[in-house]
Amino acid sequence: MELITSKQELRKAVNRARQEGKKIGLVPTMGYLHRGHLSLIERAIKDTDFVVVSIFVNPLQFGAGEDYEEYPRDLRRDSKLVEELGADVVFAPSVEEMYGSDHGTYVEVFGLTERLCGASRPGHFKGVTTVVSKLFNLVQPDLAFFGQKDAQQVAVLKKMVKDLDLPVEIIALPIVREEDGLALSSRNKYLNSKEREAALVLFKSLQLAEKLIGEGERQAEKIRRQMVDFINSEPLANIDYVEICSVDDLKPLKVLKG
Ligand code: PAF
Repeated sequence: MELITSKQELRKAVNRARQEGKKIGLVPTMGYLHRGHLSLIERAIKDTDFVVVSIFVNPLQFGAGEDYEEYPRDLRRDSKLVEELGADVVFAPSVEEMYGSDHGTYVEVFGLTERLCGASRPGHFKGVTTVVSKLFNLVQPDLAFFGQKDAQQVAVLKKMVKDLDLPVEIIALPIVREEDGLALSSRNKYLNSKEREAALVLFKSLQLAEKLIGEGERQAEKIRRQMVDFINSEPLANIDYVEICSVDDLKPLKVLKG
């Protein structure tokens, strides 16, 4: 496996692979890899012939007062994990290498980004779509792999690919959870043991919704209300939003169908 930090070297490595007729896979990450990331890399290795894993904590997608500085980083450990899995390249550029000193061009998807996480994190998705566009241009992958944990991110990126006719297919893969149900996330590192336990309220609220739907409830507001009450019963939980939406356009649903 090659550890590459320059865009020029990355282009060279990918061009060589493409000339050899290889199908290119890209797994964009911000590092501090967990089993969720590893499941994306494993699938990329299965579905393509040359796999690039990017590791870049993208300052553009963090708002003022968010955790850009604290975001966990461990390139040495990450590179070892990627190498063990058998991917071909880790691309880990510096911020200067990625954006230079005069970056002034952005990619923004409208319509899907104003609500849900976009409402509490203004500018976040503009940062994501800009960096992912740059990675798509640098690597020109046939397939790019993302986790369904960030469901809105997946919907936004699929829309970007469709609207801009980008020649890449987005593959979204299932959430990987701890045994007790907590979704794996690099940010779980921030939780102390009490918060770690309290965080399970999210998974349990989804299980509650699943149970209600299984029992035949179809009124989204009734399900949503019970989820809100359940989450609010956990003193450490603070709700940004609970919404029941259509998976493609993220529009709120009144009645569940299908
Ligand atoms: O999901 C993430 O880790 C990031 O948002 C991504 C897609 C790597 C862009 O920085």
